Amino acid sequence: MTSKTTQVAENLGLNLTQRHIFLCVKSSPQSCCDSEVALQSWEYLKTKLKELNLSERGGIQRTKADCLRICDSGPICVIYPEGVWYRNCTPKNLDLIITKHLIGGNIIEELRITGPIFSQLTNARSV
Ligand code: FES
Repeated sequence: MTSKTTQVAENLGLNLTQRHIFLCVKSSPQSCCDSEVALQSWEYLKTKLKELNLSERGGIQRTKADCLRICDSGPICVIYPEGVWYRNCTPKNLDLIITKHLIGGNIIEELRITGPIFSQLTNARSV
């Protein structure tokens, strides 16, 4: 590992990560939703996490993912370490996901597809 790699990891705050959200955005074709909706959701997620100082050293990592294999009711996301999957991750629903799950550690039942998969490792609660 080079010092550049270490510096990038440091700048991203990887060692401070509490949760990581993967959002299906760049599939070809985008089968779970309209690709414009997926891109709007991704831009909203990035902007909102930055506004709330949650990205980089704020403890929340985000990744623009390829197909997450649900391919329906998208955009689809999965959040680790809990392993909770959500459907319809539009900007409006991402607000809920950010405040209730990423910050609060609570699962949003009305958007949940499945999970938590790794509940024994976390303190995630259903609301
Ligand atoms: S295209 Fe989004 S889950 Fe498959």
